[in-house]
Parts: sequence; structure tokens; C-alpha cells
Amino acid sequence: MLDFITEAIRNFRHTGSVWPSSPILAKAMTSTIARIEGQRRILEVGPGTGPFTKSILGKLRAGDHFELVEINQNFCRKLEKDMLQGFRSRHPNVAVKLHCAPIEEADLSGPYDVIVCGLPFNNFPPKLMRQIFRRMFALLKDNGELIYFEYAGVRVMKGPVMDKAGRARLKRIDAIGKSLRRKHGGEKELVLGNFPPAITYRLKGRKGKAAKKA
Ligand SMILES: C[S@@+](CC[C@H](N)C(=O)[O-])C[C@H]1O[C@@H](n2cnc3c(N)ncnc32)[C@H](O)[C@@H]1O
Repeated sequence: MLDFITEAIRNFRHTGSVWPSSPILAKAMTSTIARIEGQRRILEVGPGTGPFTKSILGKLRAGDHFELVEINQNFCRKLEKDMLQGFRSRHPNVAVKLHCAPIEEADLSGPYDVIVCGLPFNNFPPKLMRQIFRRMFALLKDNGELIYFEYAGVRVMKGPVMDKAGRARLKRIDAIGKSLRRKHGGEKELVLGNFPPAITYRLKGRKGKAAKKA
């Protein structure tokens, strides 16, 4: 918890929150994994101190392939030390690889069945948000699922304390999210058991896309 708060103070744009996500949000974000039969390929983007990672590791079985991509080197060191090294030695037949790099540049080996994304898009420039989603959809299997979240009412709360340019940016972020959800059959779920409460969004890969094809 303290490590997360320290990194949030150092770099709020990337971290986007002062608390790590709760186990209840982690359960909602990772629930799809158990439903996939056979060997699974999973990518986690922005694991931070690892609340979603912990839940994913608990669902993995022999033959699965799990990759993580995290921009912050301090989080990467902590993840390796606290979770990944121990997991690898206990489960040598599950492949687990952490890329300490931005998702925009990481050398990833998709396609993935599931992408669990914890990035704080409301802190990002709209162009970067679009670029990251393009990359994630390119890495997702056609019948795969991409799950991301945001804090409930985040734009309503942030809007009044932002300048005109900041409000215009948030509006663009909102419009990009809505358009993605329309195109990719987005389903949402309110998760009250998190501080602050969060909304998860599930988007389908290219094959499962809703009516309008891009
Ligand atoms: C809101 S925190 C979420 C952390 C964790 N998943 C949780 O829910 O508590 C966002 C995380 O994304 C990471 N991050 C931000 N931009 C990134 C990027 N471009 N590529 C990879 N990771 C990034 C941050 O360093 C941080 O760990």
C-alpha cells in the first residue's frame, strides 16, 4: 500500500490513483479467465503493485502463458520480488513474463485470449488513449476479451477543478470510450466494493464486435 502511495505522489499521471484496487474489483476484472477452456494466453497492462496480478496468478494452470507490461521500474521490481519469482518456482510449467516498458513499445507476443488493463485513461492525452487501444486490439484474439476500468463519476468530479483545456480533454476521453464500447459490444458493471467505486468495461475482439464494423 505504502509503495503504491509513494509512486502515486511521484508520478500521478501514470499511476492515476492513490490506492491500489481492492480484491473485489480484482475479482470482477479477472472473472473471464476461469471460463476459457484449454491453455490460455493472458496479458495484464499496468499491474502496479499487483492486485489484479494476484487474482490472475491464482487462476493459472499448467500450459498457460501470462505476460505483464508495466512502465514503472519500482513497481516492476516489487512485482518480481513479491509475486512473480515465487510463482515461477512453484509453477515451472506456467510461462510468466514481465515487460518493464510502456505498452506502446513493449515487445509482446500476442495474440491473447484476455487483456486485463489497469491504465488510468482519464489522465492521458486522447491521442495516447487511442494509440494504446489500437495496440491492445491488435494483440487481442478475434474472439478475445479486453477488460478495463475507471472510477465511477471521475469526469463529473474532476471537471469543476480543471481548466477549459482539461475539460475538453476529458470530453474527448469520454467520447473515445463510448465509441469503443459501441463498436466492441461493451458491457459495464458497477463495482461498489472499491475506493473509489469503479466501473469495469468488457470489450470484445474483432469477431465479437457489435453491428458496426470498423
Ligand atoms: C491506476 S494504476 C493501476 C494499478 C493496479 N492495476 C491497480 O488496479 O491497483 C495504473 C498503472 O499503470 C501503469 N502505467 C501507466 N502508463 C502505462 C503505460 N503506458 N504502459 C504500461 N503501464 C503503464 C502505472 O505505472 C500504474 O502501475
